[in-house]
Amino acid sequence: MGRGRGWRRLKALAELKFRMICRALSKARRFADCATARRSFDGAATARHKAQAMLRLALYQPDIPQNTGTMLRMAACLGLAVEIIEPAGFDVSDRHLRRSGLDYLDHVVITRHRSFAAFEAWRAGAGCRLVLATTAGALPYTAFAFRPDDCLMVGRESAGAPEAVHAAAEARIVVPIRPGLRSLNVAVAAAMIAGEALRQVAGLEI
Ligand SMILES: C[S@@+](CC[C@H](N)C(=O)[O-])C[C@H]1O[C@@H](n2cnc3c(N)ncnc32)[C@H](O)[C@@H]1O
Repeated sequence: MGRGRGWRRLKALAELKFRMICRALSKARRFADCATARRSFDGAATARHKAQAMLRLALYQPDIPQNTGTMLRMAACLGLAVEIIEPAGFDVSDRHLRRSGLDYLDHVVITRHRSFAAFEAWRAGAGCRLVLATTAGALPYTAFAFRPDDCLMVGRESAGAPEAVHAAAEARIVVPIRPGLRSLNVAVAAAMIAGEALRQVAGLEI
């Protein structure tokens, strides 16, 4: 009788331990599944970025660091490469951008061009179209057919882009705004246009 009760207690304890081990194993399996899914998701995105021609965002002589920071962060998140055409109104060296707390810097490929002429020489080799965002544009950005390797340029905050840049661009596009108002903030214009370009070339499936 005594041995029977002891046996039942032992059996209950063993079952409890068995259930605990099962729960721990199933938790571990769920964690492993997440880790695998995350790895393959990242891997696929990286492969797609390598295979795809990249959309680029070009900043013509930017002069407000906060706007540049906003656009660099957007470029990092959406997978755009960035071209900076100098001279800029502030130090755009990697060291300085890093010091100003741009922790997204490691996730965006930035190329600095010492002048517009240097940028044009690079562009001739790269073979991408220059699509200029300008308040003087006649073509609404939603009516433009973007290509996956287009270079989308925004002008400087104080003065936009000069005539020579307008003339060099293959397209001049505008975000229509209400009459009597000057312009959008440069980072807002860049985000709207980049969003439309990515939507068209299906680049939002990052
Ligand atoms: C603050 S705006 C420059 C304003 C400048 N006074 C001008 O008239 O060009 C800075 C840049 O943002 C972009 N931008 C601002 N509003 C825009 C709009 N409605 N359509 C297209 N680009 C715009 C352009 O690239 C422009 O050069």
